Amino acid sequence: MKEGKPSFTAEGTVALRYAEWLVPEKERMCHDPLAKDFVPTKFRIIGKSRLLAKIALWGVERLVPGMVGLIVGRTRYIDDYLKVRIEEGIEQMVILGAGYDSRAYRFDKLKGKVAVFEVDFPATQRVKMEKVKRIFGSLPDNVVYVPVDFDEKKLGAGLFESGYDVNLKTLFIWEGVTPYLTAEAVDETLAFVAQNSGEGSSIIFDYILQSALDGTYKRKQVHRIRKAWERIAQPLTSESFGFGIEDGTIEEFLTQRGFRQVVDTSGEHFESAYFKGPNDNLRVWHTVYATVAPQAQP
Ligand SMILES: C[S@@+](CC[C@H](N)C(=O)[O-])C[C@H]1O[C@@H](n2cnc3c(N)ncnc32)[C@H](O)[C@@H]1O
Repeated sequence: MKEGKPSFTAEGTVALRYAEWLVPEKERMCHDPLAKDFVPTKFRIIGKSRLLAKIALWGVERLVPGMVGLIVGRTRYIDDYLKVRIEEGIEQMVILGAGYDSRAYRFDKLKGKVAVFEVDFPATQRVKMEKVKRIFGSLPDNVVYVPVDFDEKKLGAGLFESGYDVNLKTLFIWEGVTPYLTAEAVDETLAFVAQNSGEGSSIIFDYILQSALDGTYKRKQVHRIRKAWERIAQPLTSESFGFGIEDGTIEEFLTQRGFRQVVDTSGEHFESAYFKGPNDNLRVWHTVYATVAPQAQP
């Protein structure tokens, strides 16, 4: 992340959701109509025609096979999880590293009922807030913007100052963020969630396997991700992958940090659940959800 600049990865992510929105509905994996309003000007050319949108998706897939499926697949998966949690009666939602996540604005059942806290780097959040004002005329009453750098260990202070209620059943969404953090920032954030949320709270996030980071993952796809990242993203941003979880250890990892009912979902699941036709999906990425374990009584 360049000092004082909005996150490039947040921009790239919403651009892919925008391109996906432009493909015919029956072919679409995720449905984010607001992506067109959040997408930065430099990516708007994608919307000039369906053909350009398809070319953009094809181009990204050529560079990094599986990347499109990863991004739009995880958005769909998290949307599906959110729908279930809304029906179960969540009372509060926290979006960690929100970028241009539009869930607070496109899920009608949240509006006026569930307080949503959007946490992000100040520079990214400023741009988001300007866009929200432009789209809706003002900032919605039920969305609270919390500027925080996870590396500075101020998540708790930021949320409490913003009216976060520790007693409410809360859903934490952490989409596309953990690979960019330090292990300390990941631990710090998970500790906050485990120790400061009401009964029945849960978290959903995606993570990359450690083997993909240290180069021991076998598939050549991983090598291509690295190359594409160095060529395209590194010159534009200093955001880089630094955190991964050892293959097969996520349940232990989360249990040790105060979570239970861990459900880990790999690329294969996304492929069979959402993708139609052949797709060399990114198996190095997983999405997991888990419930906060009840606190031990002192
Ligand atoms: C790939 S984007 C994902 C954005 C959004 N969650 C989505 O899926 O569209 C990564 C997000 O994490 C945020 N982020 C990365 N490192 C962060 C940190 N140390 N503190 C706060 N936010 C961070 C970035 O600002 C950006 O919004």
